[in-house]
Amino acid sequence: MSMRAFSQNLFLSSVLFSLLSNSVAVDTIAIGQALRDNDTIVSAGETYELGFFTPGNSKNRYLGIWFKKIYPQTVVWVANREIPITNTAGVLRVNSIGKLLLLSGDNTMIWSSNSSVFVRNDNFVAKLLDSGNLVVCDNSCTDQDFLWQSFDYPTDTLLAGMKFGKDLVTGLVRNLTSWKSMDDPSPGLYVSWMDTNGYPQAFQKRGSVLQLRFGPWTGVRFSGFPSKPNPIYTYDFIYNEKEVYCIFNLINNSIMSRVYLSPEGNEMRLNWVDPTQGWMPYLVTTVDMCSNYGLCGAYGICNINSSPACICMEGFEPRYPVQWNAGNWTGGCKREKPLKCGNEDGFRKLSGVKLPDTRNSWYNLSMNLRECEQACKRNCSCTAFGNMDIREGGRGCLLWLDDLMDVREYNENQELYIRINASKLSVMKSRFNRKVIEVVVASMVGLVLVGLAMGVYAWKKKLSPTQREGNLVKVLSEDYTGGGQKKDLDLPFFSFSELSKLTDNFSVNNKLGEGGFGTVYKGVMEDGREIAVKRLSETSTQGHDEFMNEVRCIHRLQHRNLVKLLGFCAQKSENMVIYEYLPNRSLDTFLFDETKSSMLDWIKRFHIINGIARGLLYLHQDSRLRIIHRDLKAANILLDSDMNPKISDFGLARRFKGYETRAKTKNVVGTYGYIPPEYAVHGVFSVKSDVFSFGVLVLEIISGMKNREFSSQEHRDNLLGHAWRLYKDGKSLDLVGASLVSSCVISEVLRSVHIGLLCVQNLAEDRPTMSSVVLMLGNDGILPQPKPPAFFTEPELDRPAQPSVNNVTISLTGR
Ligand SMILES: *[C@@H]1O[C@H](CO)[C@@H](O)[C@H](O)[C@H]1NC(C)=O
Ligand SMILES: *[C@@H]1O[C@H](CO)[C@@H](O)[C@H](O)[C@H]1NC(C)=O
Ligand SMILES: *[C@@H]1O[C@H](CO)[C@@H](O)[C@H](O)[C@H]1NC(C)=O
Ligand SMILES: *[C@@H]1O[C@H](CO)[C@@H](O)[C@H](O)[C@H]1NC(C)=O
Ligand SMILES: *[C@@H]1O[C@H](CO)[C@@H](O)[C@H](O)[C@H]1NC(C)=O
Ligand SMILES: *[C@@H]1O[C@H](CO)[C@@H](O)[C@H](O)[C@H]1NC(C)=O
Ligand SMILES: *[C@@H]1O[C@H](CO)[C@@H](O)[C@H](O)[C@H]1NC(C)=O
Ligand SMILES: *[C@@H]1O[C@H](CO)[C@@H](O)[C@H](O)[C@H]1NC(C)=O
Repeated sequence: MSMRAFSQNLFLSSVLFSLLSNSVAVDTIAIGQALRDNDTIVSAGETYELGFFTPGNSKNRYLGIWFKKIYPQTVVWVANREIPITNTAGVLRVNSIGKLLLLSGDNTMIWSSNSSVFVRNDNFVAKLLDSGNLVVCDNSCTDQDFLWQSFDYPTDTLLAGMKFGKDLVTGLVRNLTSWKSMDDPSPGLYVSWMDTNGYPQAFQKRGSVLQLRFGPWTGVRFSGFPSKPNPIYTYDFIYNEKEVYCIFNLINNSIMSRVYLSPEGNEMRLNWVDPTQGWMPYLVTTVDMCSNYGLCGAYGICNINSSPACICMEGFEPRYPVQWNAGNWTGGCKREKPLKCGNEDGFRKLSGVKLPDTRNSWYNLSMNLRECEQACKRNCSCTAFGNMDIREGGRGCLLWLDDLMDVREYNENQELYIRINASKLSVMKSRFNRKVIEVVVASMVGLVLVGLAMGVYAWKKKLSPTQREGNLVKVLSEDYTGGGQKKDLDLPFFSFSELSKLTDNFSVNNKLGEGGFGTVYKGVMEDGREIAVKRLSETSTQGHDEFMNEVRCIHRLQHRNLVKLLGFCAQKSENMVIYEYLPNRSLDTFLFDETKSSMLDWIKRFHIINGIARGLLYLHQDSRLRIIHRDLKAANILLDSDMNPKISDFGLARRFKGYETRAKTKNVVGTYGYIPPEYAVHGVFSVKSDVFSFGVLVLEIISGMKNREFSSQEHRDNLLGHAWRLYKDGKSLDLVGASLVSSCVISEVLRSVHIGLLCVQNLAEDRPTMSSVVLMLGNDGILPQPKPPAFFTEPELDRPAQPSVNNVTISLTGR
């Protein structure tokens, strides 16, 4: 059936395992059966899998559902998000009243489902459907009337067929709540929900602050939210006396699509387009200035592209002109001429905007626009009206009964009629038509919500080609505040605003990845050259001058196996470095991907091993700066178009001092699976720790398997231990991944395994230096015998109980 492994405690027991005896995949758990930590059930079509998992760098166990065939593991639902299990003793059972019980080892209840029946039935089962829905039903499970279903309790993900909204009869609410972080599925800061005050709208909040309003449904979409005809899914909004929800369905079930609310509050639709590409953002909601609820106050209109961003609707003027002109728009606008409730009021048509907040509104789906106007006129609180549904010429009546809030320019073709003093109206009529046209055009340009498909970044086209040749040799900029340093820097300076523009405001769409020292974004310069912008995280304690020193040092490091630094930015407490963009991205995207790994034959892999070794040797020795990388791993090896490896993130490690005492240790420096025992235990780093990481990398390159996620049916070792066992048995060639067998050069493979094992020795002193490694790789002299690697836990083998720190001479951590 299924077997899963996870790395638990790095230096006590390197890997814990759980195995399942059964070998046939099942999709149900019957009464009396138990799903243990080492078991999973798999939906009939093998789309989804249910079991226990460990998120990110956490050590906790959670019961969840993930895509069976997608790597990396993509969890779509979590049962015990608030109460983790701290060991592998968790058990899921179904009881005879159809309740799911998640119990810890000592039988305390961790989590349970809610059952609506209180009748015993020994035929109840829990079943994982191919839609990703975990349901409780009697054993036929034919009718849709489930006792319980996980679809009723979404976490941060909506799958096809899941309702997002509210059951108006039972009161059941289906919200999306972000995870706290990638390591922690407990409810995070962001919640997105369907609001049923007035005419329903979707909202997102951050903590208690309203952050984003998706606008009312216009018949084709939520006003202000993008939709595009697409071949992948259809979606709908259902509103009747029983329930209100939106839902999407897949057109082609073989394509996977999900709506996801990230821990950072980005709500997006992701499609699994192609097995080699991973999850592609298809629609992303960008939180920008104008999405700030109430930024422009009542009767204000926000336009992200204009300055100032807020204007008053026509016929309205700033309520507090002084504050308004100073950029505080929250006071909003008031009528230039008061209303005189009754027939004398007129209405001004406004289109090209996202509809105002409808939480205080009234509606009737059978009324037409004329009846709607009459209804508005009759009610003195009515400030505007419009159709509910723009399809088929428009139908229904929506009345706004409050100040009009949260309007922004948007390419929306629904018309809105704003109540206004009729005398005012006649004056404005002539000006009005022109305004509408302007509004429509402006909002077409300023689409906040960026649709992204097939890797085509729409914004790319917006960049106007200007003369920026020589940008890379242009050093000075008005924004630059570095004073006297200008002259001696032969490295281009980029201003924050410039980088912000080149990366579309550091949009998630341009995010290439997140690494030890910050987040990397892709950017396109005006001349079309692509760059990678690394925005350093704030963990550094360094000041401006120190940063500049580091940048200068890194800039002087030039080697064909190191990523080239193109520029930097040090401004507004933002430190960024700009690198060449390498189209083939990082080694891990090839190595650990079933399809793409076949593009790396042995010749290429051996070339990559050699290149990394040379780059590292240069850092350790030849550069005279003695740079210790500290986070060498497959994700930090970038590949150029000819598959030449280039080490990235080198030199940055020097900036992050004292990291091991910080809460963000795991994110900042070192990645489990790549760090040696002396660091894990004592936080001590030396060139030999890089050698250790290099050894892990070599074994990963040969095997195509991740050290951290490696699992075997025969033993409990990690990849290092596995390689060691094979080596001892003279079966090193068995380590070679299936896709490599045909291309491998046996002597080179054997030698590489051997060198890899020498590099991952438990004691730093037993590991070779990089200069030895380069020599060993390059000739065929006799190699020393390796001892068992670090973290090898086989009891019968004689090994030190505690990793030793002898002979570790260089430590950047000050310990
Ligand atoms: C799964 O774990 C249980 C105890 O947690 C154990 O009894 C069982 O043997 C394990 N199954 C396998 C295949 O390891
Ligand atoms: C469980 O369901 C019952 C009725 O179905 C409901 O009254 C109760 O509030 C629910 N409890 C929880 C914790 O959801
Ligand atoms: C859903 O979100 C709304 C608004 O934040 C909140 O009032 C409600 O309690 C939430 N319900 C659930 C079940 O999370
Ligand atoms: C569904 O998508 C798959 C993969 O893209 C394709 O091979 C198949 O033909 C599609 N089926 C239909 C009915 O469009
Ligand atoms: C903005 O103006 C409003 C009144 O219109 C005032 O209450 C508020 O304090 C002002 N905010 C700031 C930051 O000045
Ligand atoms: C909705 O409008 C129709 C047609 O004008 C009317 O017959 C009906 O009573 C209205 N419903 C409500 C709830 O006002
Ligand atoms: C306006 O209409 C709303 C909704 O029907 C109603 O609650 C309110 O009392 C009306 N106000 C006046 C002044 O008629
Ligand atoms: C428009 O406002 C003025 C006051 O500025 C008022 O005297 C007049 O009656 C209003 N006109 C209408 C049609 O309500």
